[in-house]
Amino acid sequence: MENISPIQIKPELKTEQPGSEGNGQKQKIMIIGGAGLIGSRITKKLTDLGHEVVIYDKFYNFIESERDKYVFYLKRRLKELCPGIKIVYGDIRDDVNLLKALQENRPDTIIHLAQIPLATVSNKLSSEALDININGLTSLIKAIGSVDFVKRLVYSSSSFVYGHFKYAPADENHPTNPIDVYGGTKLAGEDIIKGFGTRFGIDYTIIRPSAVYGPTDVNLRVSQIFVDNAFNGRDLIMEGGGEACLDFTYVDDIAQGFTLAALSPKAKNEVFNITRGEGRTLKELSDILRQYFPNLKTIIKPADQTRPKRGALDITKARKILGYEPKYSLEDGIKEYVAYIKNHQE
Ligand SMILES: NC(=O)c1ccc[n+]([C@@H]2O[C@H](COP(=O)([O-])OP(=O)(O)OC[C@H]3O[C@@H](n4cnc5c(N)ncnc54)[C@H](O)[C@@H]3O)[C@@H](O)[C@H]2O)c1
Repeated sequence: MENISPIQIKPELKTEQPGSEGNGQKQKIMIIGGAGLIGSRITKKLTDLGHEVVIYDKFYNFIESERDKYVFYLKRRLKELCPGIKIVYGDIRDDVNLLKALQENRPDTIIHLAQIPLATVSNKLSSEALDININGLTSLIKAIGSVDFVKRLVYSSSSFVYGHFKYAPADENHPTNPIDVYGGTKLAGEDIIKGFGTRFGIDYTIIRPSAVYGPTDVNLRVSQIFVDNAFNGRDLIMEGGGEACLDFTYVDDIAQGFTLAALSPKAKNEVFNITRGEGRTLKELSDILRQYFPNLKTIIKPADQTRPKRGALDITKARKILGYEPKYSLEDGIKEYVAYIKNHQE
């Protein structure tokens, strides 16, 4: 987990996108962190709609134990979801490289996903988390501020900005009270972007996802750990008696939400929860998995007090303004996830 050096496989991945002429309505969108779990799915959705996507990414893998799997699934993402996409290799903190990438590609919209995406790692590597999540964002803001073609910045925040939920489903007006480095840097990022938008007249859209799961995940969130353990005949450790409740969101649904938010004029300067909109317990997740792995056993452990107590997020605003409609129940999403792994066994 401590090793965060980048994977060096850029040369064979970099390709030029053909046919980038556009027709006036089509947008050019740069996805920073676009080679990740969520970014690669957004890329697929946007290119399917005819938009031009450029990925800017440093191919960071923050979890040492998943390194081989990361390389395997990164290749799958780029081959299956992002074929022919132009990829600029670079760190968001590299001011010169980032500005050059912006000037050469002239995106209308930037979707920013490039952060340490995990609470556990962010809390352990707090300096690195601050550096990427805050200084990286500052580099991006400086770069956008120095050009005149970027019209919107879409920022990936998190349900961690709410801290312990005071009520559920939590809407966007729920008090923000993060309890850790991850949630704190996410909320700071939201404020920096809002201030920057006002100061420089750059529109923003802030998205708060939660508990995303699905094929090619390698970040060891609880959903991936449960699925991996089921495949490998290992027991599932259920903290807090399995009663911990999360708004598990299938990766295709979060990609739908980001895509709608990036393209909709109505999303300008708005904050959206984008999730499934349902709280489901770890016990429910294990019961769903048991349908595919009947011998699956669970072990009960005390609750992890360092994590915020969460639950369902209210997605009414995204439904009304963006027309967002999540398609995958937890049952449907796990079915897709299990099938994908079966078809892509190493
Ligand atoms: N997956 C979830 O459950 C979830 C929930 C809430 C919020 N988010 C947020 O969504 C975003 C994307 O999450 P994900 O699950 O796709 O994570 P991911 O790790 O799969 O993707 C992140 C991408 O950003 C890139 N990156 C990281 N640091 C970088 C840097 N300094 N310079 C350039 N590229 C860099 C990585 O190489 C990776 O491709 C993150 O900001 C995360 O905090 C995710």
